This record gives sequence, structure tokens and C-alpha cells, in this order.
Amino acid sequence: METKPIDGKAFAAGLRARIAEEVAGLKASAGLTPGLAVVLVGEDPASQVYVRNKAAQTAEAGMASFEYKLAADTPEADVLALVAKLNADPAVHGILVQLPLPAQIDANKVIAAIDPAKDVDGFHVVNAGRLAVGLDALVPCTPLGCIMLLKHHLGSLSGLKAVVVGRSNIVGKPAAQLLLKEDCTVTIAHSRTRDLPAECRTADILVAAVGRPEMVRGDWIKPGATVIDVGINRVPKDDGKTRLVGDVAYAEAQGIAGLITPVPGGVGPMTIACLLQNTLTAAKRQKG
Ligand code: GUN
Repeated sequence: METKPIDGKAFAAGLRARIAEEVAGLKASAGLTPGLAVVLVGEDPASQVYVRNKAAQTAEAGMASFEYKLAADTPEADVLALVAKLNADPAVHGILVQLPLPAQIDANKVIAAIDPAKDVDGFHVVNAGRLAVGLDALVPCTPLGCIMLLKHHLGSLSGLKAVVVGRSNIVGKPAAQLLLKEDCTVTIAHSRTRDLPAECRTADILVAAVGRPEMVRGDWIKPGATVIDVGINRVPKDDGKTRLVGDVAYAEAQGIAGLITPVPGGVGPMTIACLLQNTLTAAKRQKG
């Protein structure tokens, strides 16, 4: 069987272009410029790269980008005060506080302080709850990107068996909720699942979101299944440099999976595109 790669990079570029067009229309017709505020505390190098990319793509889409870079030793109270200020700012429609946060700051407390209407990460319990009960919600960006890719390539997902490996609040749980909403039969598997390979082999759609390099092996995949690899893991190479690999052993999946997202270039580029989509959605809802 030929395994086809899912080109998330191209899909994300198309999505960003459609968002930019809609933003231009909103500016012209309603005088509304969607604004996204990103808060970075500390100097984690991966987070810095991420935040730089977010700011550039926000501006490219014609949105306003507000960046707040705070020192690593910033007290929790100062971050909460900044969130309160952004909640009250009518030019800011979306607020994203980059995770992870330094140890002195309770991430749950910061997320709870964000106005749910501006919670473009979809991490607030109000948005998680709304998603769970089937109400309109701001949905976490990475799982939203996964579902967009799946629907684009498979059409209806109704009746398909989906196995999500990983139970995080950021990816695993919301991915499972979204698949359920598409009428999939969903299993959430994790490190304590009995016979994980056998569980994965039941999946028409296999979502790997565990953060462990190449954990999902080729013989865990049902022939013809669609594999969505959410992992981005940096591993050492023989020459002392590093390379990026996913949570799925990509080479082993060749000839078994029907469709698979590569790493890099699969799910990754969808995350920021979906963040822009959420910012646009939030801006339109706040405008009424
Ligand atoms: N750190 C890594 N991914 C994310 C994300 O999607 N949102 C936030 N806020 N922090 C992150």
C-alpha cells in the first residue's frame, strides 16, 4: 500500500490566506482589526522561536500583534495584573500566555484569569466545558488543526474508530472531544493502557500525542489507517547535531498507513494558523 503524506504546511498556508482575506474584509466593512496579545515569561529558547513566529504570522494576516516579554523572575501577581489589563483592552481580542511558565507562577491560575471570550488557546475551563457539552467554544489550536486536516482528507469522519494516544488538556482530551463531535467512536489511550499496540491497531484514525520520540511503531498501525502525529521531539544525531522526529516511527509507517502527517510539516504549521482562526472568531464574537 502506498502511504501518502499529509501536507500540513500547504494547508496552513491556504488557511492563513483565507483568514487574511476575511480580516481585510472586516477592516473595510466594520473597521475591526482583530488583535492578539502574546505573553512570554522568561527566556525558554523554544518558546522564543514560537512567539516570534506567532507575531510574524499575526501581522502577515493583517491582525494587530501585541507582545509582552517579561523577565523569568516576574511574580505571579504581575502576570495576573497584565492579564486583567488585556481582558479590559478592547483592541485585544485574543490573549495567549505561552506555556510552560516559570515555577513561581501557577499556570492554572493564570489561565483561569483570562476572559473566556479572549481565551484563544481554549484552555480555560469554561471553553473546555463548552466543548464537552457541545456548545460553541474556543478550541485548543493543535487539535483543531488535526481535525481540519482529517476532514479535508477523509471527508466525513462519521462512524470511524479513532484512538487518541495521550490524555493532555492541550491535545489529547480536546482531540477526543472533537472526534466525538464528528461522530467517531473514540478511545483515549495512555501510558497505563493495557496492550497499547493492540489498541492502536483498532484505529481507522490514530492520533499520537504523547511527546515520546517514535513511540508508535509501524506494526501498531492498521493497514490503510490515517495517522496524525502531533509529536515534535528533538533527538541527537550521530554528528552531534539534532533532528526533529514525531511520536510515530515515520519510516516504519511507510507502506502500512494510508495517510500520515510528517514531522516537521504536518500538524505543526496548523497550530499557529488555528490560533489566527481563533483570534478572528473571538474578534467577530466580541464585536457581536
Ligand atoms: N506552548 C507550547 N504550545 C503552546 C500552545 O499551544 N499554547 C500556549 N499558550 N503555550 C504553548
